[in-house]
Amino acid sequence: FSGLVIAVDGTSGSGKSSTSRGVADRLGLRYLDTGAMYRAMTWWMLAHAVDVHDASAVAARVGEPVIVSGTDPLAPSIMLDGDDVSEEIRSDVVNAHVSPVATVPAVRARLIALQRAVIEDALDGAGIVVEGRDIGTAVWPDADLKLYVTADPAARAARRALEEGGTDADAVRASLETRDHIDSTRGGLAVPDGAVHVDTTPYSLDEVIDQIVALAERVS
Ligand code: C5P
Repeated sequence: FSGLVIAVDGTSGSGKSSTSRGVADRLGLRYLDTGAMYRAMTWWMLAHAVDVHDASAVAARVGEPVIVSGTDPLAPSIMLDGDDVSEEIRSDVVNAHVSPVATVPAVRARLIALQRAVIEDALDGAGIVVEGRDIGTAVWPDADLKLYVTADPAARAARRALEEGGTDADAVRASLETRDHIDSTRGGLAVPDGAVHVDTTPYSLDEVIDQIVALAERVS
């Protein structure tokens, strides 16, 4: 591959992250988790006592955090002001506050610019798998392959509960549904033009990765 860009959009817990990392690993591509960038921005705002429900307060500080995303699919990391915050960004407090932060236009503008810089850099190599909500629609509409990944809500909640180390799938489901609602009404989640819809519910992770690898081989 050379400069291949795969855009993976979809809901949380759809299997989008594991799938994206698996595809990147199998194809020797870099990986970018844009949700982690929104989460790092949220963690920074909370740590600096910014009222995350006050869009102008958030917008006023949006240029301050230094967010650097690792692009290794086997060890994705996110650095915030020089510290690795990979664990902090998965906390309940971030889950509960990331959607309002992500809907602030100045936040989206800054993070999209950072994301495009990472993608541009990857064009010189084999390419990159970019995961998020608006990759095929806003960040990189010219992606070689666009995927829209979903799974049924019970499957999503069970997966997220497992990922987050908890056992309370009902609480996780409620938190996912709240986030989805905000994301789909005010955030950027939409099906990109030309996207292939992948419903992961009936498949194992390896089966989904196989399907996408086959699609990538076809478009490259
Ligand atoms: O994918 P993940 O659940 O980690 O994303 C966390 C949140 O970040 C989403 O609920 C959404 O509010 C926001 N997000 C976004 N645009 C992206 C990626 C994530 O608005 N491209």
